[in-house]
Amino acid sequence: MKPKIGIFGAGWVGLVTGACLAELGHEVVVRDVLPERVEALQAGRVPLHEPGLEELLERNRERLSFTLGLEDVVDAPILFVCVGTPPTYSGDADLSAVWSVVDQLPALEERALLVMKSTVPVGTGEKVRAALDARGLAHVGYVSNPEFLSEGSAVRDFMDPDRVVVGAFTEADAKTVESLYDPLETTVVSTDVASAEMIKLAANAFLMTRISFINEIANVCEATGADVVKVAEGVGLDHRLGPHFLRAGIGWGGSCFPKDGVALKQLASNSGYHFQLLSAVIEVNELQKRRVVGKLEKHLGKLGGKTVALLGLAFKPNTDDLREAPSLVLASRLLAEGAEVRAWDPVADARRLLQGVTFCDSVLEAVSGADAAVIVTEWEELRELASDEVRQAMRRPLILDGRNLLDPEAARAAGFAYEGIGRAASPLAALPETEEPERQATT
Ligand SMILES: NC(=O)c1ccc[n+]([C@@H]2O[C@H](COP(=O)([O-])OP(=O)(O)OC[C@H]3O[C@@H](n4cnc5c(N)ncnc54)[C@H](O)[C@@H]3O)[C@@H](O)[C@H]2O)c1
Repeated sequence: MKPKIGIFGAGWVGLVTGACLAELGHEVVVRDVLPERVEALQAGRVPLHEPGLEELLERNRERLSFTLGLEDVVDAPILFVCVGTPPTYSGDADLSAVWSVVDQLPALEERALLVMKSTVPVGTGEKVRAALDARGLAHVGYVSNPEFLSEGSAVRDFMDPDRVVVGAFTEADAKTVESLYDPLETTVVSTDVASAEMIKLAANAFLMTRISFINEIANVCEATGADVVKVAEGVGLDHRLGPHFLRAGIGWGGSCFPKDGVALKQLASNSGYHFQLLSAVIEVNELQKRRVVGKLEKHLGKLGGKTVALLGLAFKPNTDDLREAPSLVLASRLLAEGAEVRAWDPVADARRLLQGVTFCDSVLEAVSGADAAVIVTEWEELRELASDEVRQAMRRPLILDGRNLLDPEAARAAGFAYEGIGRAASPLAALPETEEPERQATT
């Protein structure tokens, strides 16, 4: 008989963890503090867009339940903490949700295991351990088991992980958590709690570093006439480097990289160390998002009165997550320059976040009358953007491809002025526009 699992937090990590552990045969109870979220889940509605999750929840309905009640969860011998850890004003991780879970634990009589999946600063496990001991809960074990799933492929990432990291204070607790993953074919990295916490932060920081690195290479490519797509291919084939996270674009966003990057930087500086490389990686990303504005100005002159279509708003495809999405920065910058912004996304709804933007139900509606179309998120639907229909609908047929999704030659052959990231710029003469655009310095 597999142990019952209790889960705190019905967000991306909690729901995916719950659904996958139910799929592996566990009875799972997921607790959240948001009544509307719990009600939706109880009614069979999934409150977020994640491929495969709805089917998995449906298939395992009998083993899964959702609750607001603490008492429904705490009789489980294994309790996963999957609550959010957003940034505070100082950039440190806000652990208030984590502490509310720890502080609300009742005086458990049976031995239980608290398993931390939320991303937390190094040292959190030590502090939770001390707090549990101080409350007379020394029999409640603590394990760090950071989550590496990516939104958009979260279910697959959980069921087929590159590795599982388990950081524990005792061998027995490590074994209990490791055994949950026995049905999966993977490598388990077994370590101490602080190292497990650091593995998660370091992995994210390294992924960000690779993206900022290739983005800077892209910017140098633009200045020198090289093509970053070919450069990345040639670099990535080196077995010491590998091809992943070498795709140039308009920068990262999302619920993890921005906050985890800053949290690691703050963690270092709170500990007396200035993490210079990470500071630069973060700054490069901020500048990268803003470079789009300069590129548009290069083609269109001043953006006041111009219409720009933002295609894709989610921070990446296959999710409706808008947290720290580059689209938000871009839309705000364009509005500040006086542009009219029209936006389309197949699933993300940014109406509450972006005032002054016109939201459209289709790509064609978004590009109608636009002076430029910017590919912000590489949704599959946008692969066919360089069509006759789109060209005819636009005021000027300019595509700024922020994700290098399209073939530049094909887009130009279809009559568009095309500019990607780190690729040879499109000749301004290609713009069939009577008014001569003012040329301005790019950012
Ligand atoms: N989203 C990702 O791709 C991802 C990947 C790896 C790790 N993580 C980390 O996992 C953690 C969770 O991320 P997420 O994206 O699932 O967050 P989320 O914001 O989508 O979900 C967190 C949920 O926790 C709930 N919650 C808050 N306090 C609670 C409490 N006391 N009891 C029960 N529920 C409570 C919230 O209401 C919310 O529904 C974060 O630390 C994040 O950094 C996220």
